[in-house]
Amino acid sequence: MIQVTDIHKTYHSGDTSVYALRGVSLDIDAGEFVAIAGPSGSGKSTLLNILGCLDHPDQGTVSVDGREMVQLDSRGRADYRRHNLGFVFQNFNLIPVLTAFENVAFSLNLLNIPEQEITDRTMAILREVGLEGMEHRRPSRLSGGQQQRVAIARALVKNPAIILADEPTANLDSETGQAILETMRTLNERHGTTFIFSTHDPMVMEFSRRLVRLQDGRVAGGAT
Ligand SMILES: Nc1ncnc2c1ncn2[C@@H]1O[C@H](COP(=O)(O)OP(=O)(O)OP(=O)(O)O)[C@@H](O)[C@H]1O
Ligand SMILES: [Mg+2]
Repeated sequence: MIQVTDIHKTYHSGDTSVYALRGVSLDIDAGEFVAIAGPSGSGKSTLLNILGCLDHPDQGTVSVDGREMVQLDSRGRADYRRHNLGFVFQNFNLIPVLTAFENVAFSLNLLNIPEQEITDRTMAILREVGLEGMEHRRPSRLSGGQQQRVAIARALVKNPAIILADEPTANLDSETGQAILETMRTLNERHGTTFIFSTHDPMVMEFSRRLVRLQDGRVAGGAT
């Protein structure tokens, strides 16, 4: 489904260059539950951003269902993101003035879906991630774990084929992190959604079906 071939990425700031990815190749099948692990600075976020079309590699290719991402123009990439991908960020990235319901419904509002269907789908997904009864709370009145559940619901409500999550449990205590992972895994099994997430938490690595290790911008294990 996802085929990453020999991608390189270098960041330049002033006259120094940082080689974030130095030839990463990776195949991921539909429905996989994959952790990308590695020390700080090993290139996890860079790789996820490239998989999510938020950034582009200097060299190499990423193809999804046979479609070459680097050949899409910016409109094509935005379209691809909107219809196929869900993102979950480390710091949740919720909109503070919107309720849990509104944060989740927001991504459907952009897709031209009838209002009743938006309400039904939003309520169903909030129930699925365990937030029934909290729909009308704003993020400031939710715990970290509950906010991350809203973020996961927001990513999932569009029914994307792929969810990308950058350290989704990093800001949570270990018990809450475990509960979030179990929710992700249940959704992975129930909907067949592909989950690709980064972590440096050993508990998360143990929990994953597949572990891809990055070290200094290279794959150190788990590429196939
Ligand atoms: N926008 C940027 N400009 C310059 N250098 C960057 C930028 N983003 C990342 N880097 C560098 O690229 C390398 C890889 O960074 P990346 O964020 O992908 O690592 P990471 O594995 O996600 O680390 P962490 O576990 O700390 O989140 C690091 O050396 C980092 O300093
Ligand atoms: Mg990172």
